[in-house]
Amino acid sequence: MFAGFSKLSKEEKLKVVAKLTTNPEEFTAELKSFWNADEELQKKFDEFSENTITNFYMPFGVVPNVKINDKFYTIPMVIEESSVVAAAAKSAKFWLSRGGFKAEVTEMVKLGQVHFIWNGDKTKLKAAFPELKKHLIENTKYLTANMEKRGGGILNIELIDHSDKEPGYFQLMCSFNTCDSMGANFINSCLEEFASLLKDWCTNHAGFTGEEKKVKVIMSILSNYTPNCLVKCWVECPVSELGESEDGSTPEEFVEKFSTAIRIAHIDPYRATTHNKGIYNGIDSVVLATGNDFRAVEACGHAYASRDGQYKSLTDVSVENGIFKFTLTVPMALGVVGGLTSLHPVVKRGLELLGSPAAKELMMIAAAMGLANNFSAVRSLSTVGIQQGHMKMHLFNIMNHFGANDAEKQKGLEHFTSEKVSFTTVREFLEKLRTKQPA
Ligand code: MEV
Repeated sequence: MFAGFSKLSKEEKLKVVAKLTTNPEEFTAELKSFWNADEELQKKFDEFSENTITNFYMPFGVVPNVKINDKFYTIPMVIEESSVVAAAAKSAKFWLSRGGFKAEVTEMVKLGQVHFIWNGDKTKLKAAFPELKKHLIENTKYLTANMEKRGGGILNIELIDHSDKEPGYFQLMCSFNTCDSMGANFINSCLEEFASLLKDWCTNHAGFTGEEKKVKVIMSILSNYTPNCLVKCWVECPVSELGESEDGSTPEEFVEKFSTAIRIAHIDPYRATTHNKGIYNGIDSVVLATGNDFRAVEACGHAYASRDGQYKSLTDVSVENGIFKFTLTVPMALGVVGGLTSLHPVVKRGLELLGSPAAKELMMIAAAMGLANNFSAVRSLSTVGIQQGHMKMHLFNIMNHFGANDAEKQKGLEHFTSEKVSFTTVREFLEKLRTKQPA
């Protein structure tokens, strides 16, 4: 038990935590070695979260030459898994000579809810609702004025009756346009104000009596499910232009297997989960590099993948009149202002690298990397298999685990072009190499 841990200084917290380890001095020194020498910058990082004792590094990579809607991008990706950036780059290169990625954002609606219990005559609440809605919108102007100046604000408020499922349960289902911000703070502030206005309005409503004057607000919070904040991204080309696959399949044979693989991800939730995980390898990497909330983006996408009652692939494939078309349709709520976007120096540079895109454009970029990763994964899976590429990428991780130096890594690369990569084979290879060439 630690009492008052959060009140300790960072140095003190580290000292306390280090005592839990077998070598506190070594532990402290290692974690401290990741502190930034620039104290002001370090303070900024410490304040992103709580109980910070060090920084955690993640690789920040780029995918060059990505053509989306005829514009070229170098896309930043933050990901710890080897082969994700390589898969995106391979796909981007493949589609570059076939028209690149096309994308569009159809809608940008964000949602939030006030969940409340009201035990009165429903017809009275429903009849008075237009008046309540006007009251809520007018009395939150002080919160919405700035957003309205930017072209956004409250779009609508609806009264949803769920009292058949839970006694007295109603919702204010509120929709917003949050322009270039993800909008969580704006939405939550509006919702909490709606909740308080709702309570007062019911108490003071001349037509309500007894229980009708009482509102029990259960919670006011944005919904991370934003099915109307939707981006669609696709690639297409004549089947004949797909070329021969790495396993020697003809374009027609490839399309047949690839399309079957996509259909399987529509039929089977076990496969769909892995399939969509591969899509989020690409999306999350961009979301992280640009300081957005990957948990929100993922939660939304997986809910959308289950929208008709069964969890399914987020990508679709079609072949019509000899044209192969591969499409990703996914909701995501991203921001390019507010949050970490201007606070985190590397996020700022990531957005700069992308040409300071608007939220809509960033949605298309993230979707393109999701589609790119899914194309590469399913293409490999349905032809040569995933391990060949994966394990080669994994080779360096395993070699690093055994403390391989640059010369050993180079030898390893040469050796494993024709050998199977596994933890054991790499260990044996290094042992042999090291006994042959003692340091
Ligand atoms: C690995 O991170 C992602 C894949 O499993 C995706 C897929 O199976 O489609 C390769």
